[in-house]
Amino acid sequence: MSTKTKKPMPTKPKVAAAKKPKPQKPAAPAVADAQGQPPKPTGGRATPQTPRGMRDIVPSEQRYWRHIYKKVEELTAAYGYERLDTPILEETGLFVRSAGKQSDVVEKEMFSFIDKGNENVTMRPEGTAPMVRAYINHGMVNLPQPVKLYYWGPMFRYERPQHGRFRQHNQFGVEVFGDASPVQDCEVILLAHLFYKELGIKTAIHINSLGCGQCRPGYQAELSAYYRSKRSQLCEDCKRRLAKNPLRLLDCKEASCQPIKETAPHIVDFLDEECKNHLMRVLEYLDDLQVPYVLNPHLVRGFDYYNRTVFEIMLADENPESGQVALGGGGRYDNLVEQLGGRPTPACGFGIGVERVILQLKAQQIEPQEDRRPDIFLAQLGDQARRKAFMLFEELRASGVHAAANFSKGALKGQLEIANRLGAKYTVILGQKEVLDGTILIRDMESGMQEIVLYDKAGMEIKKKLGKA
Ligand code: HAM
Repeated sequence: MSTKTKKPMPTKPKVAAAKKPKPQKPAAPAVADAQGQPPKPTGGRATPQTPRGMRDIVPSEQRYWRHIYKKVEELTAAYGYERLDTPILEETGLFVRSAGKQSDVVEKEMFSFIDKGNENVTMRPEGTAPMVRAYINHGMVNLPQPVKLYYWGPMFRYERPQHGRFRQHNQFGVEVFGDASPVQDCEVILLAHLFYKELGIKTAIHINSLGCGQCRPGYQAELSAYYRSKRSQLCEDCKRRLAKNPLRLLDCKEASCQPIKETAPHIVDFLDEECKNHLMRVLEYLDDLQVPYVLNPHLVRGFDYYNRTVFEIMLADENPESGQVALGGGGRYDNLVEQLGGRPTPACGFGIGVERVILQLKAQQIEPQEDRRPDIFLAQLGDQARRKAFMLFEELRASGVHAAANFSKGALKGQLEIANRLGAKYTVILGQKEVLDGTILIRDMESGMQEIVLYDKAGMEIKKKLGKA
């Protein structure tokens, strides 16, 4: 007899994923869209498409991803960060407890579902809460602090897709645990700044402080009173926000609410001495390091976990009210580890949207520089030659030579065209004559010089030419 106790059904938070999405009728673009996605086929048998707001990363796009990830590895290694990967699925409660019930992400944007074991799970909409969970789960509080971590991977938000806004996007993020000092805020901001700068994109950091549990309530009361006096002019969403979370009023993107925001009180006028000091010291460090920033007194972030420093990375020279999407964002969250059941541990970090980086690289015509030209292309004619070329290819590859070939092509002309297109430095030609003679022909693709060498010595001769012997 089974002694299994039945788990109670978890209470289902109010999340959008339960709603059935309306059927979409996307217009078929005639050419690839701005993100390089192909036109939707018309007519014929219907082919399944990627879900709305989600994209394939096709081979021609991959060089951008390699280029960006290389920069991520360079910077994180230089500043002593280690990679930590968390699963894509987490308990829904992790995000409800961290981001806040009234955050847009939890209220409207989570891909949540009940799995076959009756667990309420969510495809992670962001990386901070999972990193905090992992920090606690793995007892990292016992390691020498600070613990500096980074991540790279997909996030899921059920948003209305538009330019630079996807339902699946990827983030590079860092999270630092166990250091409350302003110099750590500065290091994190510097990393975000350097990341963009070294990719060739000029940014400015928009920065603000959200104070702490002591000084923020005074500001919130003042802000509520201010907005209540303008209630009739507010959009419907803001009227709702007024009752639930007045700080979110400052995040409204509705044009009609912007003039009201402009004259709203500033939180910096309400910060207590410690919070004010913390902000001043972060700014001093940024000045020392010549990191350009803009003090933005109305900057609030979309999650409840932040305190003190918050920041967003925007294109330089961009008007903060222009509706420009952020290239990244982050801040301090000194209470989240404790809130999720860990020992009190200060922390801060940021997340950067990789797709938005790529859009900027393309808009600014910044080409990723990488040399993937093969050292050598092996061309062959006839079955015997193909077998010998294949063996030589494998010998070269195993000894560190970047070799290329196309064994399914028969004609020499087609193969030489490929060798040219790939920009191979040398081409090896193995025809029937060479098979009979036990030789190969090596052609220097730049000078056109040709040389015949014995097949048995081919590997060594090629490596000598490449300086790899
Ligand atoms: P976030 O501002 O929600 O912060 O997201 C970080 C970045 O991810 C954004 O600035 C943007 O570049 C990109 N992003 C967000 N949503 C989308 C989307 N739908 N499509 C394309 N890109 C998007 C966080 O997620 C925090 N966890 C950051 C953080 C880390 N705070 C402290 N540590």
